[in-house]
Amino acid sequence: MERRRRVAVLALVLLLLSACHGRREFSVKNHDQSLIYDHTLAKTIVEYASAVYMTDLTALYTWTCSRCNDLTQDFEMRSLIVDVENCLQAFVGVDHNLNAIIVAIRGTQENSVQNWIKDLVWKQLDLSYPDMPNAKVHSGFFSSYNNTILRLAITSAVHKARKTYGDIGVIVTGHSMGGAMAAFCALDLAIKLGSDNVQLMTFGQPRVGNAVFASYFAKYVPNTIRLVHGHDIVPHLPPYFSFLSKLTYHHFPREVWIDESDGNTTEQICDASGEDPNCCRCLSILSLSIQDHFTYLGVDMESDDWSTCRIITAQSVERLRKHLSSNIIMTKHAIEKMAPFLSLEEGGLQLGNFIQIGLYIVLS
Ligand SMILES: *[C@@H]1O[C@H](CO)[C@@H](O)[C@H](O)[C@H]1NC(C)=O
Ligand SMILES: *[C@@H]1O[C@H](CO)[C@@H](O)[C@H](O)[C@H]1NC(C)=O
Repeated sequence: MERRRRVAVLALVLLLLSACHGRREFSVKNHDQSLIYDHTLAKTIVEYASAVYMTDLTALYTWTCSRCNDLTQDFEMRSLIVDVENCLQAFVGVDHNLNAIIVAIRGTQENSVQNWIKDLVWKQLDLSYPDMPNAKVHSGFFSSYNNTILRLAITSAVHKARKTYGDIGVIVTGHSMGGAMAAFCALDLAIKLGSDNVQLMTFGQPRVGNAVFASYFAKYVPNTIRLVHGHDIVPHLPPYFSFLSKLTYHHFPREVWIDESDGNTTEQICDASGEDPNCCRCLSILSLSIQDHFTYLGVDMESDDWSTCRIITAQSVERLRKHLSSNIIMTKHAIEKMAPFLSLEEGGLQLGNFIQIGLYIVLS
Protein backbone atom coordinates (compact mmCIF):
# COMPACT_ATOMS: atom_id res chain seq x y z
CA MET A 1 0.00 0.00 0.00
CA GLU A 2 2.70 2.36 1.13
CA ARG A 3 4.78 1.49 -1.89
CA ARG A 4 1.90 1.98 -4.27
CA ARG A 5 1.30 5.41 -2.87
CA ARG A 6 4.93 6.30 -3.30
CA VAL A 7 4.83 5.15 -6.90
CA ALA A 8 1.74 7.23 -7.48
CA VAL A 9 3.43 10.31 -6.06
CA LEU A 10 6.49 9.66 -8.15
CA ALA A 11 4.36 9.24 -11.25
CA LEU A 12 2.71 12.55 -10.49
CA VAL A 13 6.02 14.31 -10.16
CA LEU A 14 7.27 12.74 -13.37
CA LEU A 15 4.18 13.81 -15.22
CA LEU A 16 4.53 17.32 -13.93
CA LEU A 17 8.11 17.43 -15.04
CA SER A 18 7.49 15.39 -18.17
CA ALA A 19 10.39 15.68 -20.53
CA CYS A 20 10.38 16.21 -24.27
CA HIS A 21 11.72 12.79 -25.07
CA GLY A 22 9.46 10.87 -22.74
CA ARG A 23 5.93 10.74 -24.00
CA ARG A 24 4.62 11.19 -27.45
CA GLU A 25 0.95 11.61 -27.95
CA PHE A 26 0.72 12.62 -31.55
CA SER A 27 -2.80 13.38 -32.45
CA VAL A 28 -1.91 15.72 -35.24
CA LYS A 29 -4.72 16.41 -37.57
CA ASN A 30 -3.99 19.19 -39.90
CA HIS A 31 -7.14 21.05 -40.62
CA ASP A 32 -6.70 22.30 -44.13
CA GLN A 33 -8.26 25.59 -43.22
CA SER A 34 -5.85 26.27 -40.41
CA LEU A 35 -3.60 29.19 -40.73
CA ILE A 36 -0.05 28.48 -41.71
CA TYR A 37 2.19 30.36 -39.34
CA ASP A 38 3.58 33.45 -41.01
CA HIS A 39 6.65 34.85 -39.29
CA THR A 40 6.51 38.14 -41.19
CA LEU A 41 2.91 38.69 -40.12
CA ALA A 42 3.83 37.88 -36.52
CA LYS A 43 6.60 40.52 -36.59
CA THR A 44 3.97 43.12 -37.45
CA ILE A 45 1.21 41.92 -35.14
CA VAL A 46 3.54 41.81 -32.13
CA GLU A 47 4.08 45.54 -32.60
CA TYR A 48 0.35 46.17 -32.22
CA ALA A 49 0.23 44.01 -29.08
CA SER A 50 3.13 46.08 -27.74
CA ALA A 51 1.68 49.47 -28.73
CA VAL A 52 -1.57 48.90 -26.85
CA TYR A 53 0.46 49.11 -23.61
CA MET A 54 1.31 52.75 -24.26
CA THR A 55 -0.20 55.16 -21.75
CA ASP A 56 -0.04 58.41 -23.70
CA LEU A 57 -3.42 58.33 -25.40
CA THR A 58 -2.74 61.33 -27.59
CA ALA A 59 0.35 59.74 -29.12
CA LEU A 60 -1.47 56.44 -29.44
CA TYR A 61 -4.55 57.90 -31.07
CA THR A 62 -2.50 59.87 -33.57
CA TRP A 63 -0.26 56.81 -34.07
CA THR A 64 2.87 58.79 -33.28
CA CYS A 65 3.92 56.83 -30.18
CA SER A 66 7.44 55.41 -29.95
CA ARG A 67 6.13 51.92 -30.67
CA CYS A 68 3.92 53.08 -33.54
CA ASN A 69 6.43 53.69 -36.29
CA ASP A 70 8.12 50.51 -37.43
CA LEU A 71 6.19 47.86 -39.38
CA THR A 72 2.82 49.39 -38.54
CA GLN A 73 3.18 52.69 -40.35
CA ASP A 74 0.18 52.08 -42.57
CA PHE A 75 -2.15 51.88 -39.60
CA GLU A 76 -5.25 54.04 -39.41
CA MET A 77 -6.61 54.35 -35.88
CA ARG A 78 -10.40 54.11 -35.72
CA SER A 79 -11.20 53.74 -32.01
CA LEU A 80 -9.18 53.90 -28.85
CA ILE A 81 -11.01 52.46 -25.87
CA VAL A 82 -10.04 52.85 -22.24
CA ASP A 83 -11.89 51.30 -19.35
CA VAL A 84 -10.58 53.49 -16.58
CA GLU A 85 -12.07 51.64 -13.66
CA ASN A 86 -10.81 48.21 -14.71
CA CYS A 87 -7.61 49.55 -16.23
CA LEU A 88 -8.22 47.94 -19.60
CA GLN A 89 -7.28 49.36 -22.95
CA ALA A 90 -7.90 48.42 -26.58
CA PHE A 91 -7.81 49.89 -30.04
CA VAL A 92 -9.38 49.11 -33.37
CA GLY A 93 -8.07 50.33 -36.71
CA VAL A 94 -7.13 49.34 -40.22
CA ASP A 95 -3.72 48.19 -41.38
CA HIS A 96 -3.79 49.27 -45.02
CA ASN A 97 -0.69 47.27 -45.82
CA LEU A 98 -2.25 44.02 -44.57
CA ASN A 99 -5.72 45.17 -45.66
CA ALA A 100 -7.08 43.98 -42.35
CA ILE A 101 -8.81 45.36 -39.31
CA ILE A 102 -6.59 45.17 -36.24
CA VAL A 103 -7.98 44.75 -32.74
CA ALA A 104 -5.39 44.97 -29.95
CA ILE A 105 -6.28 44.48 -26.28
CA ARG A 106 -4.37 45.15 -23.08
CA GLY A 107 -5.38 43.56 -19.80
CA THR A 108 -4.87 44.74 -16.25
CA GLN A 109 -1.66 43.84 -14.55
CA GLU A 110 -0.72 47.05 -12.88
CA ASN A 111 2.47 46.96 -10.91
CA SER A 112 2.60 43.43 -9.67
CA VAL A 113 2.84 40.92 -12.47
CA GLN A 114 4.34 38.48 -9.95
CA ASN A 115 1.18 38.50 -7.86
CA TRP A 116 -0.96 38.19 -10.93
CA ILE A 117 1.01 35.11 -11.97
CA LYS A 118 0.71 33.55 -8.52
CA ASP A 119 -3.05 34.05 -8.65
CA LEU A 120 -3.19 32.32 -12.01
CA VAL A 121 -2.26 28.99 -10.43
CA TRP A 122 -5.58 28.85 -8.62
CA LYS A 123 -8.03 30.23 -11.15
CA GLN A 124 -11.22 28.21 -11.24
CA LEU A 125 -13.08 27.08 -14.34
CA ASP A 126 -16.09 28.82 -12.88
CA LEU A 127 -18.21 29.89 -15.83
CA SER A 128 -20.12 27.86 -18.40
CA TYR A 129 -19.53 29.46 -21.76
CA PRO A 130 -22.90 30.53 -23.20
CA ASP A 131 -24.37 28.20 -25.85
CA MET A 132 -21.49 25.74 -25.72
CA PRO A 133 -22.49 22.71 -23.64
CA ASN A 134 -19.82 21.60 -21.14
CA ALA A 135 -17.45 24.37 -22.14
CA LYS A 136 -16.02 26.05 -19.05
CA VAL A 137 -13.89 29.15 -18.83
CA HIS A 138 -12.44 31.46 -16.23
CA SER A 139 -15.04 34.12 -15.45
CA GLY A 140 -12.47 36.86 -14.76
CA PHE A 141 -10.94 36.76 -18.22
CA PHE A 142 -14.32 36.40 -19.88
CA SER A 143 -15.98 39.21 -17.94
CA SER A 144 -13.12 41.59 -18.58
CA TYR A 145 -14.07 41.36 -22.23
CA ASN A 146 -17.79 40.64 -22.11
CA ASN A 147 -18.99 42.72 -19.20
CA THR A 148 -16.98 45.88 -19.69
CA ILE A 149 -17.02 48.65 -22.23
CA LEU A 150 -14.68 46.65 -24.46
CA ARG A 151 -17.14 44.29 -26.07
CA LEU A 152 -19.58 46.90 -27.25
CA ALA A 153 -16.93 49.40 -28.29
CA ILE A 154 -14.82 46.84 -30.18
CA THR A 155 -17.66 45.12 -32.01
CA SER A 156 -19.12 48.48 -32.94
CA ALA A 157 -15.78 49.75 -34.27
CA VAL A 158 -15.20 46.56 -36.28
CA HIS A 159 -18.67 46.83 -37.74
CA LYS A 160 -18.08 50.45 -38.76
CA ALA A 161 -14.70 49.68 -40.30
CA ARG A 162 -16.22 46.89 -42.39
CA LYS A 163 -18.92 49.29 -43.56
CA THR A 164 -16.23 51.68 -44.73
CA TYR A 165 -13.71 49.26 -46.18
CA GLY A 166 -15.81 46.30 -47.18
CA ASP A 167 -15.70 42.90 -45.61
CA ILE A 168 -12.00 42.75 -44.89
CA GLY A 169 -10.58 40.30 -42.35
CA VAL A 170 -10.05 41.00 -38.68
CA ILE A 171 -6.86 40.16 -36.76
CA VAL A 172 -7.24 40.17 -32.99
CA THR A 173 -4.17 40.32 -30.77
CA GLY A 174 -3.00 40.75 -27.20
CA HIS A 175 -0.23 39.79 -24.82
CA SER A 176 -0.57 38.08 -21.44
CA MET A 177 -4.00 38.79 -19.95
CA GLY A 178 -4.68 40.90 -23.04
CA GLY A 179 -4.18 37.69 -25.01
CA ALA A 180 -6.80 35.91 -22.91
CA MET A 181 -9.27 38.72 -23.56
CA ALA A 182 -8.30 38.78 -27.25
CA ALA A 183 -9.26 35.09 -27.42
CA PHE A 184 -12.79 35.82 -26.16
CA CYS A 185 -13.02 38.76 -28.52
CA ALA A 186 -11.94 36.64 -31.52
CA LEU A 187 -14.48 33.97 -30.64
CA ASP A 188 -17.23 36.57 -30.31
CA LEU A 189 -16.31 38.13 -33.68
CA ALA A 190 -15.94 34.75 -35.42
CA ILE A 191 -19.43 33.75 -34.34
CA LYS A 192 -20.77 37.07 -35.68
CA LEU A 193 -18.69 37.46 -38.85
CA GLY A 194 -17.80 33.87 -39.74
CA SER A 195 -14.66 31.90 -39.01
CA ASP A 196 -13.00 32.81 -42.32
CA ASN A 197 -12.98 36.48 -41.41
CA VAL A 198 -11.24 36.34 -38.06
CA GLN A 199 -7.68 35.50 -37.03
CA LEU A 200 -6.25 35.43 -33.55
CA MET A 201 -2.59 35.86 -32.69
CA THR A 202 -1.64 36.04 -29.02
CA PHE A 203 1.66 36.34 -27.18
CA GLY A 204 2.36 34.74 -23.81
CA GLN A 205 -1.31 33.98 -23.30
CA PRO A 206 -2.49 31.99 -20.26
CA ARG A 207 -5.00 29.15 -20.63
CA VAL A 208 -8.59 30.36 -20.58
CA GLY A 209 -10.87 27.31 -20.56
CA ASN A 210 -11.26 23.54 -20.44
CA ALA A 211 -10.78 20.91 -23.17
CA VAL A 212 -14.37 21.19 -24.39
CA PHE A 213 -14.00 24.94 -24.70
CA ALA A 214 -10.70 24.44 -26.58
CA SER A 215 -12.38 22.19 -29.14
CA TYR A 216 -15.19 24.66 -29.73
CA PHE A 217 -12.62 27.37 -30.02
CA ALA A 218 -10.61 25.43 -32.61
CA LYS A 219 -13.77 25.01 -34.65
CA TYR A 220 -14.86 28.65 -34.54
CA VAL A 221 -11.46 30.31 -34.71
CA PRO A 222 -9.29 27.85 -36.68
CA ASN A 223 -6.94 30.66 -37.70
CA THR A 224 -5.32 30.96 -34.31
CA ILE A 225 -1.66 31.24 -33.40
CA ARG A 226 -0.43 31.41 -29.80
CA LEU A 227 3.20 32.41 -29.63
CA VAL A 228 5.15 31.22 -26.63
CA HIS A 229 8.60 32.66 -25.99
CA GLY A 230 11.13 30.22 -24.57
CA HIS A 231 10.59 29.63 -20.87
CA ASP A 232 7.75 32.14 -20.40
CA ILE A 233 5.76 30.83 -17.42
CA VAL A 234 2.40 32.44 -18.22
CA PRO A 235 1.30 30.04 -21.03
CA HIS A 236 1.78 27.21 -18.49
CA LEU A 237 -0.93 28.67 -16.27
CA PRO A 238 -3.50 27.89 -15.00
CA PRO A 239 -2.03 24.38 -14.93
CA TYR A 240 -2.82 21.56 -17.30
CA PHE A 241 -2.44 17.94 -16.16
CA SER A 242 -2.40 15.40 -18.95
CA PHE A 243 -3.80 12.67 -16.65
CA LEU A 244 -6.81 14.87 -15.91
CA SER A 245 -6.96 16.48 -19.31
CA LYS A 246 -10.76 16.57 -19.38
CA LEU A 247 -10.96 18.41 -16.07
CA THR A 248 -8.17 20.91 -16.10
CA TYR A 249 -7.50 23.96 -18.20
CA HIS A 250 -6.57 23.12 -21.78
CA HIS A 251 -5.03 25.36 -24.45
CA PHE A 252 -6.62 25.72 -27.84
CA PRO A 253 -4.35 25.26 -30.87
CA ARG A 254 -2.07 26.31 -32.36
CA GLU A 255 1.04 27.02 -30.35
CA VAL A 256 4.18 28.30 -32.01
CA TRP A 257 7.07 27.86 -29.64
CA ILE A 258 10.04 30.16 -30.00
CA ASP A 259 12.88 28.15 -28.53
CA GLU A 260 16.23 29.75 -27.88
CA SER A 261 17.73 27.05 -25.77
CA ASP A 262 20.80 26.12 -27.82
CA GLY A 263 21.85 29.56 -28.88
CA ASN A 264 19.84 29.26 -32.08
CA THR A 265 16.32 30.58 -32.26
CA THR A 266 13.82 28.16 -33.69
CA GLU A 267 10.11 28.60 -34.17
CA GLN A 268 8.38 25.29 -33.75
CA ILE A 269 4.88 24.91 -35.14
CA CYS A 270 3.07 22.65 -32.72
CA ASP A 271 0.34 20.07 -33.22
CA ALA A 272 -3.40 20.62 -33.37
CA SER A 273 -4.06 19.28 -29.87
CA GLY A 274 -3.36 22.62 -28.19
CA GLU A 275 -1.16 20.81 -25.66
CA ASP A 276 1.65 19.49 -27.83
CA PRO A 277 3.97 17.64 -25.45
CA ASN A 278 6.95 18.45 -27.65
CA CYS A 279 6.49 22.20 -27.56
CA CYS A 280 6.79 24.48 -24.52
CA ARG A 281 5.16 21.83 -22.35
CA CYS A 282 8.31 19.74 -22.60
CA LEU A 283 10.13 22.21 -20.36
CA SER A 284 10.64 21.36 -16.74
CA ILE A 285 8.35 23.42 -14.55
CA LEU A 286 11.35 24.44 -12.52
CA SER A 287 12.97 26.09 -15.53
CA LEU A 288 10.08 28.42 -16.23
CA SER A 289 10.62 32.12 -15.73
CA ILE A 290 8.99 35.47 -15.98
CA GLN A 291 11.77 37.14 -17.99
CA ASP A 292 10.78 35.61 -21.29
CA HIS A 293 7.26 36.94 -20.77
CA PHE A 294 8.33 40.51 -21.42
CA THR A 295 9.83 40.24 -24.89
CA TYR A 296 8.33 38.63 -27.94
CA LEU A 297 10.17 38.56 -31.27
CA GLY A 298 12.56 41.12 -29.83
CA VAL A 299 9.74 43.56 -29.02
CA ASP A 300 9.10 45.02 -25.57
CA MET A 301 5.82 43.75 -24.12
CA GLU A 302 5.67 45.86 -20.97
CA SER A 303 3.84 49.01 -20.17
CA ASP A 304 5.92 52.14 -20.52
CA ASP A 305 4.63 53.11 -17.08
CA TRP A 306 3.96 50.26 -14.67
CA SER A 307 3.41 52.40 -11.64
CA THR A 308 -0.25 53.13 -12.25
CA CYS A 309 -3.06 52.74 -14.65
CA ARG A 310 -2.95 56.49 -14.93
CA ILE A 311 -3.80 57.91 -18.29
CA ILE A 312 -1.66 60.65 -19.67
CA THR A 313 -3.31 62.75 -22.26
CA ALA A 314 -4.39 66.28 -23.01
CA GLN A 315 -4.87 68.09 -19.73
CA SER A 316 -8.52 68.90 -20.22
CA VAL A 317 -9.34 65.26 -20.73
CA GLU A 318 -7.34 64.27 -17.69
CA ARG A 319 -9.25 66.81 -15.59
CA LEU A 320 -12.55 65.61 -16.88
CA ARG A 321 -11.63 62.02 -16.28
CA LYS A 322 -10.91 62.77 -12.64
CA HIS A 323 -14.32 64.33 -12.22
CA LEU A 324 -16.23 61.58 -13.86
CA SER A 325 -14.03 58.55 -13.30
CA SER A 326 -15.36 57.64 -16.69
CA ASN A 327 -14.38 55.40 -19.52
CA ILE A 328 -12.88 57.06 -22.53
CA ILE A 329 -13.48 56.22 -26.12
CA MET A 330 -11.78 58.26 -28.77
CA THR A 331 -13.34 57.38 -32.04
CA LYS A 332 -13.93 58.56 -35.56
CA HIS A 333 -17.51 57.48 -35.58
CA ALA A 334 -20.55 57.42 -33.36
CA ILE A 335 -21.22 54.30 -31.38
CA GLU A 336 -24.92 53.97 -31.90
CA LYS A 337 -25.74 51.30 -29.40
CA MET A 338 -24.08 53.28 -26.68
CA ALA A 339 -26.25 56.32 -27.09
CA PRO A 340 -28.26 55.74 -23.90
CA PHE A 341 -25.06 55.75 -21.86
CA LEU A 342 -23.58 58.83 -23.44
CA SER A 343 -23.51 61.90 -21.34
CA LEU A 344 -21.49 63.96 -23.76
CA GLU A 345 -21.65 63.85 -27.49
CA GLU A 346 -19.37 64.77 -30.32
CA GLY A 347 -18.94 68.50 -30.53
CA GLY A 348 -20.65 68.97 -27.22
CA LEU A 349 -17.58 70.03 -25.31
CA GLN A 350 -14.45 72.04 -25.85
CA LEU A 351 -11.76 69.49 -25.26
CA GLY A 352 -8.67 70.84 -26.90
CA ASN A 353 -7.46 68.75 -29.78
CA PHE A 354 -9.96 66.02 -29.34
CA ILE A 355 -12.86 68.01 -30.59
CA GLN A 356 -11.73 67.36 -34.16
CA ILE A 357 -11.55 63.64 -33.86
CA GLY A 358 -14.56 63.20 -31.63
CA LEU A 359 -14.29 62.23 -28.03
CA TYR A 360 -16.88 60.10 -26.39
CA ILE A 361 -16.89 59.99 -22.68
CA VAL A 362 -19.00 57.19 -21.45
CA LEU A 363 -20.10 57.18 -17.85
CA SER A 364 -19.40 53.89 -16.17
C1 LIG B 1 -22.15 38.90 -21.84
O1 LIG B 1 -22.58 40.18 -22.19
C2 LIG B 1 -23.95 40.26 -22.57
C3 LIG B 1 -24.23 41.68 -22.95
O2 LIG B 1 -23.26 42.22 -23.75
C4 LIG B 1 -24.83 39.82 -21.42
O3 LIG B 1 -26.17 39.82 -21.85
C5 LIG B 1 -24.44 38.44 -20.98
O4 LIG B 1 -25.17 38.06 -19.84
C6 LIG B 1 -22.95 38.38 -20.66
N1 LIG B 1 -22.60 37.02 -20.37
C7 LIG B 1 -22.15 36.64 -19.19
C8 LIG B 1 -21.98 35.18 -19.03
O5 LIG B 1 -21.90 37.40 -18.28
C1 LIG C 1 22.99 26.91 -34.94
O1 LIG C 1 22.63 26.82 -36.29
C2 LIG C 1 23.73 26.80 -37.17
C3 LIG C 1 23.22 26.85 -38.60
O2 LIG C 1 22.00 26.19 -38.74
C4 LIG C 1 24.56 25.53 -36.90
O3 LIG C 1 25.69 25.49 -37.74
C5 LIG C 1 25.02 25.56 -35.44
O4 LIG C 1 25.69 24.37 -35.11
C6 LIG C 1 23.82 25.72 -34.52
N1 LIG C 1 24.29 25.92 -33.16
C7 LIG C 1 23.88 25.17 -32.16
C8 LIG C 1 24.46 25.51 -30.83
O5 LIG C 1 23.05 24.29 -32.29
